[in-house]
Amino acid sequence: MPPSRTLRTQVGIVGAGPAGLLLSHLLHLEGIESIVIETQTRAHIEERVRAGVLEHGTVDLLNATGLGDRMRREGLVHHGIELRFNGRGHRIDFHALTGRGITVYAQHEVIKDLVAVRTSAGGQILFEVAEVRIEDFDTTAPRIRFQHDGEDCLIACDYIAGCDGFRGVCRPAVPAGALRCYEKVYPFGWLGILAEAPPASDELIYANHERGFALMSMRTPQITRLYLQCHPDEDLSLWPDDRIWDELQRRFATTDGFRLNEGPIFQKGVTAMRSFVTEPMQYGRLYLAGDAAHIVPPTGAKGLNLAAADVFVLSNALAHAFRTGSEARLARYSEICLRRVWRAQHFSWWMTSLLHRFEDASGFDHRRQLAELDQVTSSCAAATTLAENYTGLPFTLPGEYS
Ligand code: FAD
Ligand code: DHB
Repeated sequence: MPPSRTLRTQVGIVGAGPAGLLLSHLLHLEGIESIVIETQTRAHIEERVRAGVLEHGTVDLLNATGLGDRMRREGLVHHGIELRFNGRGHRIDFHALTGRGITVYAQHEVIKDLVAVRTSAGGQILFEVAEVRIEDFDTTAPRIRFQHDGEDCLIACDYIAGCDGFRGVCRPAVPAGALRCYEKVYPFGWLGILAEAPPASDELIYANHERGFALMSMRTPQITRLYLQCHPDEDLSLWPDDRIWDELQRRFATTDGFRLNEGPIFQKGVTAMRSFVTEPMQYGRLYLAGDAAHIVPPTGAKGLNLAAADVFVLSNALAHAFRTGSEARLARYSEICLRRVWRAQHFSWWMTSLLHRFEDASGFDHRRQLAELDQVTSSCAAATTLAENYTGLPFTLPGEYS
């Protein structure tokens, strides 16, 4: 069936998450046109509650590309985190150890800033598309077919960026056998809440407790974000607010009487946890970025930051290709991204293993975890490793990579 509407652009981007929208913005700054298509509504992506921690490199990138105004006003700059175990807190001082910090600024606020900047620059984002299919990406004339406003549409483009998340259509469209996937599924998930209550501490607290892991984060000086380890398919109806507060208070308890501030809970959700990597992250003229190519468990706060690092590399390599006609940088896209991805995989797995309770863990395993926490909080070398990885590795461009 011929499409009723044909659009032409240089880069067709599938997915308006952080990867797709940031890529579209970075390409625009390079003078390259793109069209973003998204299955959800604008309101949905601007309200979806997800990540909250930006590495210093992500913050620098947003600032350098004109996306930092609201983040600088409303984001919370943190210079450390607390690790809590055996009823005591231990601060890891990122600033003293690395000279860097992180910024707490919600992912959906980054999304709002990106949609605003793309829209004001005349960028095309088509929301509520359906039946998305990518075709001919092993040729020099890739195409994206979809339905929009009741019409069959086609985007003809030079390259496709698959930024459609873990459950998108781009990765599965690659012929069987061309990609190798590595996966690890964890036997637990996180129950996350947002509460109208001032955070009980100025910095994030990661707690290892015999009842399971818990994390205190925040969104504003009035809103606390909290997570507790649960079953991956936990039934939320079994968790009335009182039970959530009771469990959180137990896991954060200290010998000197720490209490979380409680308040009305206005959002609840359960997230399953997995590690996943696709190698390579490209096939023909299709480039996968962000969660479409890799997933990390959230303990290291790396998912959104990896998405930003991928599209930083991809936009540079695409700009080089359009400017010079050479695909040499694009050819190295996967190699450059995967080095950082595997470092982040290791860090996220390590933080997860250090802080969570595994059902089959023995007394020995728990003692070993506590010994490692003791080392991380008392050895400068061990604390520096955590601080370097948490605040983020430098962003590397294809031209700078050796
Ligand atoms: P996504 O954000 O998933 O965006 C993909 C987009 O593609 C979506 O909008 C989707 O609707 C759209 N889409 C899907 N299929 C199609 C299709 N067929 N056609 C068109 N569009 C499609 N990361 C951190 O860095 N720090 C944190 O603190 C952190 N905490 C987290 C906490 C939670 C509870 C969760 C769930 C995640 C967290 N993450 C964190 C991970 C982070 O949210 C993700 O890594 C990030 O959203 C990845 O961005 P993305 O653009 O690759 O994918
Ligand atoms: C948040 C999420 C994380 O996964 C994390 O490690 C730290 C903070 C958050 O949502 O604020």
